[in-house]
Amino acid sequence: MRERQKVSVIGAGNVGASLAQLLAQSGLCDIMLFDIAEGMPQGKALDLAEACPLWGSSSAVKGTNGLADTKGSSVIVITAGLARKPGMSRDDLLLANARIVGGIAEKIPALSPDAVIIAVTNPMDVMAQLVREKTGFPSQRVVGMGGVLDSARLRAFIAAEAGVAPGDVQAIVMGGHGNQMVPVESLMTVKGIPARSFLGGEKIQAIIGRTRNGGAEIVSLLKTGSAYYAPAASGFEMVKAVLLDEKKVLPCAVYLEGQYGASGVYAGVPVVLGKAGVEKIIEVPLLPEEAAAFDRSVSAVRSLLSKLKNN
Ligand code: LAC
Repeated sequence: MRERQKVSVIGAGNVGASLAQLLAQSGLCDIMLFDIAEGMPQGKALDLAEACPLWGSSSAVKGTNGLADTKGSSVIVITAGLARKPGMSRDDLLLANARIVGGIAEKIPALSPDAVIIAVTNPMDVMAQLVREKTGFPSQRVVGMGGVLDSARLRAFIAAEAGVAPGDVQAIVMGGHGNQMVPVESLMTVKGIPARSFLGGEKIQAIIGRTRNGGAEIVSLLKTGSAYYAPAASGFEMVKAVLLDEKKVLPCAVYLEGQYGASGVYAGVPVVLGKAGVEKIIEVPLLPEEAAAFDRSVSAVRSLLSKLKNN
């Protein structure tokens, strides 16, 4: 019998609580929901625990204000921090969220030395890098969630325009999880058939633009906050890949050491995600203009990193 695994979700806001719900419904693990707001993670966790009988789930769900309760986690998902308001970019959150995420990351090694950590808080690529530095974990075990979300948005837009099932569309968005992200046209397919067989070049360009602006589109509609259903579903896909050792091929932010011509920086590329975390980084041949766009996106991540370092 496999031992029950524990997943800790740090930050019980919309993304964290929605992720906890997906995990609890799946029954794949026990869940510890952490937040600094008194009573809030406990209340949400109790509510989720009370739904578990209806879902036929054997997950235990608990809430806490003490990080010590995350001890022994297999996977830790960091969603804590401020979310965007209308008119803000992900980058505007840099300094405030670095304080929050850095403070949490420092405490993880003593509690969960073997955990795989998934960084979700924005600006995500920089937060993933900060978590790696603060924990001293091997980069294989610190991965960022951005590419799965951006690719899901791209897939949804292609499916809607082409009039096909969203699940039949495959696509990969690479680079940083920012405005310069790189939706890779040569990798957009519907059941292996190039998207160009379904959509003209202009439509594809419009979809690429909409994907780059995907987070902001939701922020401007919601007015009081940022997206959470698709971010939570993206986080769930990654947690599941680790818990079940699925060897899923997913675009994730990982520490690059020469791949795609980049070194010493986190950015989104396709990887194999399994029990050990990032088990392989996949190098796909890119068209020259795609490679150039990737370089520009990585430069944007680097400039944010130096803003953080020089602060
Ligand atoms: C988004 C924010 C959460 O893309 O990064 O919706």
